[in-house]
Amino acid sequence: MLKFNNNVPFIEGTSLNDIMKVCQTPFYIYSQDLITKKVEMTKKALGNKIFFSVKSNSNQAILKLMQSLDIGADVVSIGELKRAISAGFHPNKIIFEGVGKSKNDLIYASQKNIHLINAESLEEIKLIEKIAGDTNKKINIGIRLNPNIDGGTIKKISTGKKTDKFGIEIEDIKNIINLIKNCSNIKLIGISCHIGSQISDINAYKNTFLEMKKAADKFVEAGINIKHVDLGGGFHVKYNGNDQEFNINDIKKELDQCFINSTYELSFEPGRYLIAEAGILVTSILTKKQNGGINYLIVDAGMNTLIRPAMYNAHHNIEAINKKSEKLINYAIAGPICESSDIFLNNIELPEQNIDDILIIKDTGAYGKVMSSNYNSRTLPPEVIVHKDKFAMIFIPEKIEKNILEDIIPTWM
Ligand SMILES: Cc1ncc(COP(=O)(O)O)c(C=O)c1O
Repeated sequence: MLKFNNNVPFIEGTSLNDIMKVCQTPFYIYSQDLITKKVEMTKKALGNKIFFSVKSNSNQAILKLMQSLDIGADVVSIGELKRAISAGFHPNKIIFEGVGKSKNDLIYASQKNIHLINAESLEEIKLIEKIAGDTNKKINIGIRLNPNIDGGTIKKISTGKKTDKFGIEIEDIKNIINLIKNCSNIKLIGISCHIGSQISDINAYKNTFLEMKKAADKFVEAGINIKHVDLGGGFHVKYNGNDQEFNINDIKKELDQCFINSTYELSFEPGRYLIAEAGILVTSILTKKQNGGINYLIVDAGMNTLIRPAMYNAHHNIEAINKKSEKLINYAIAGPICESSDIFLNNIELPEQNIDDILIIKDTGAYGKVMSSNYNSRTLPPEVIVHKDKFAMIFIPEKIEKNILEDIIPTWM
């Protein structure tokens, strides 16, 4: 996403230097053009029924952009639902799911008349039925099924195996059908699944599609008119040159084969795929040192700014803006947080770097800012979006003084 013009780094038609005049590192930048292209490409491959997974990036400017590109929103909390509505999504283009929803969450979502609420347990179906009865309102629901498929991704982001906490076991369909038949206030209109994130194995998709088709047919045979089959997100992003190749058109081929002659409305809920590569994290080098023969560059972004490397051992490529030196040095890039896991990359060769030089941590548009925290009493990173030769700050820098005022010391102390 970063292009150099006479050694000056540009995002679209905007120079990074101009952004740096008004924004202090560390901060995120998104390219509106790249997001738009990825959404259009995904719609072209899979059709219009795309619900952006808000958890991957919930900034309202990003949501507004997604909404303007005519896709829906997939939310997993009332906070995300409120953000999506406030950014302009029509409620009938919002799906609400999540493995644990409170009674108040369900009441709120049902009052908003969203597209559907996905139930993830038999108990939750009963609760929604009760809420619908108590509030005298017909509620459209979907059921998130757990198809017991291993997506071949890392354990921490696997969600579709029987032992994972998500969804209702697919073998429980008979029990779901019996329960639904005894419910008079809710209407089951869809089923969904999501087997995990960063999935490149085409067979995992194929097996999921086949299981979901079989499941939908079972409901229909039992007289329950399933209209929507939501096949989740999880599309793979190439963070590393060695990563598996993933082509969204291969998904389309499997989809057409598995759902041949069926009339279900098929939808997807990708997050990462739509936005990861359209974001970068800009960070400055605070200091450098050699410990035990390792050349550390300590930068001002840390695991509080981008937690994926510390949490999942995730790889993000890093590029130096200063490429002047011909001497390549093997560096470890670490954050300032007081944790040994606060390392972005070990063993990266870069031209020799100096204090205050800028590094770019790539492909950080998804699960970046949304997972940032105030750990070590650091502030959340600002965010900027670029559109051609314009840019705008879309999340203003926090003030630590304001955060400090949010704590209350009791009067007896
Ligand atoms: C239910 C559900 N749908 C969609 C997604 C989006 O996944 P991804 O960002 O990998 O596409 C997630 C993320 O884990 C999820 O839990």
